[in-house]
Order: sequence, then structure tokens, then C-alpha cells
Amino acid sequence: MGISGKTRVCGVIGDPIAHSLSPTIQNAAFNHMKLDFVFLAFNVKTGELENAMRGMRGLEIHGLNVTMPHKNAVIRHLDEVDSAVKFLGSANTILNEDGRLSGFNTDGVGALNALKKNDVDLAEKKVLLLGAGGAAKAIAFSFAQEAESICILNRAPEKAAVLADALNRVFGMKVVGGALSPNAVQKSLQDADVLVNATSVGMHPHVDQSLVVPQWLKPDLTVMDIVYNPVATKLAKDAKAAGAKVISGVEMLIYQGAASFKIWTGKSAPIEVMRKAALTKLGAGEHR
Ligand SMILES: NC(=O)c1ccc[n+]([C@@H]2O[C@H](COP(=O)([O-])OP(=O)(O)OC[C@H]3O[C@@H](n4cnc5c(N)ncnc54)[C@H](OP(=O)(O)O)[C@@H]3O)[C@@H](O)[C@H]2O)c1
Repeated sequence: MGISGKTRVCGVIGDPIAHSLSPTIQNAAFNHMKLDFVFLAFNVKTGELENAMRGMRGLEIHGLNVTMPHKNAVIRHLDEVDSAVKFLGSANTILNEDGRLSGFNTDGVGALNALKKNDVDLAEKKVLLLGAGGAAKAIAFSFAQEAESICILNRAPEKAAVLADALNRVFGMKVVGGALSPNAVQKSLQDADVLVNATSVGMHPHVDQSLVVPQWLKPDLTVMDIVYNPVATKLAKDAKAAGAKVISGVEMLIYQGAASFKIWTGKSAPIEVMRKAALTKLGAGEHR
């Protein structure tokens, strides 16, 4: 699809942004669907966020993804936000309708759909979630709506406890939070149906690291590692060797992108096209 006088502009703002996979994934989807849209990466420094948001209105930029360091600060520039943004205090997607900016957070729904579309239903499932950072929070918020229980373990235990308390206030008592120690991971895994690594452990260049001893993994476990660089982390490889079902971080990346695509275009995203574009780019070694 060529650029025309009517081309709608979408993009991603962050700093740094040059290695974002979003332009690759979203442009592949726009082209495949023959939509007159283009997706660009904008490097926006911390002090420039207000100007960038004014620019979004002034230039009638149709949609934005938002990444670090702006996910929290961007909220005060929006006119309305969805329930996930309200709970999380962070937005990763903006839709501009005639100058009215709506904020969404598609990380949690992306993780949930990565499981669902790979035939994992969270109903009556016990989840062990490692991490309590931005991504873990989004995942916990969406998983709490479907799972039987969630155990959140984090290196800084107070963050896990605060998140568990907040979730319990919204969803009733089914979330516990504690310290991420080898003992706690081993013990919680004995009960868990689904393990999610939402820490950055195992991410490039520390590709030989994992928080889980291979012997603790079992065939009836589903393991999702949200780290997508490398695509197959040590945890994912160990889980595969143990006979567990493995879902890579690329799946979450694609399904959160697909949710943003739907918000901007009103259409279902071409998942296979997005997956192929992401994997090709990751294979080429250009990523964030
Ligand atoms: N697949 C996707 O679509 C997707 C989306 C978002 C993020 N991610 C990936 O998810 C990872 C986390 O991202 P984020 O945005 O949540 O980052 P974040 O907010 O900075 O959180 C980082 C998390 O990792 C934990 N952590 C870091 N180093 C650790 C270590 N050595 N041992 C134990 N825990 C450690 C932190 O624990 P403390 O709180 O104790 O510091 C915290 O829970 C990154 O690798 C990111 O690329 C993937």
C-alpha cells in the first residue's frame, strides 16, 4: 500500500525506540489488510511528552503505542482511560477520535489471548507469576479475572504484596504475594498449572539464566516466558525438555499488538502475518 494524501498515521513513542518491533509488526498487518495506514517510531524524550501529545492532536495522528518511559506519565494527557489503565496506572495504546484521546492497556489481554489461542483456558487453574513489574502487573490484572488463584513472587517482596492486595480488593481473595526465593518457587510450582516468567531474567545478553531449576518442571504444566529476546529462553527450553506446554513471549507481543490494531482499525489483526514479521525480525537480530 503506498502512502497517499489520506494515509492515517499511527506510531509508537518511547526513549529509546529505534529497536522497537512494533513498526515491523503493525506495518506488516496494515499492508496485508490493504489498509491506508502507516506506523512509525517516534523517539520522545521525557521532557517532550507534553509536546508529543499536543502533536498527536495537532497532526491528527490516529493511534499510538506508548512504551518506556512514558507509560505512566502519558495518562494525564488523555481524556479517558479503560479499566485496565485505571488499575495499572499505565497505558500502552492511545486512540485519537477527533482530538479526544482514549487510553488502553493491551499487555494483559495480550498475555491472556496468547494462552487462549494456544488452547490454555485459565478457569480453575492455579497460576504462579514470577515478577511484579509493569508487565507482571498487567498480566496479573487480566489473569485474576479468569484464574482460580494466582501466586505472585517477586525479588522485592513488598511489590508482590502490594499488587496482591490491590487485586484482592478488586477480585476477592485469590491472590497471594511473596518473596521470590528458590524455595518459594519450588514449593509454589508443586501446585501450579500455569507458570509465567514476567521478570527480565533470561533476556539477552543473560541468556543462560532462569529462576526455575529444570527438575521442578513437569509435563502437566503450561509455561509462558514473556521474554522474547531470545525467542527460546533457557526457561522455555527447559520446560520443553520436561514435556511442558511452552508459550513464547512473541505470542504475548503479537496478541497485545493485535489488540492495539483492533482499537485503531476496528478490524481483527492478521495474527500469522504479525507472527512471521516478528520472528523474521528477531531472527535477524534487530530488536529491543
Ligand atoms: N512479550 C511481551 O509482549 C512483553 C511485554 C512487556 C515486557 N516484556 C518483557 O518482560 C520483561 C519485564 O518487563 P517489565 O516492563 O515488566 O519490566 P520492569 O517493570 O522493569 O520489571 C522487571 C521485573 O523483573 C524483575 N527482575 C529483574 N531482574 C531480576 C533478577 N535478577 N532476579 C529476579 N527478578 C528480577 C524485577 O524485580 P524487582 O521488582 O525486584 O526489581 C521486576 O519484577 C522484560 O524482559 C520485557 O522485555 C515482554
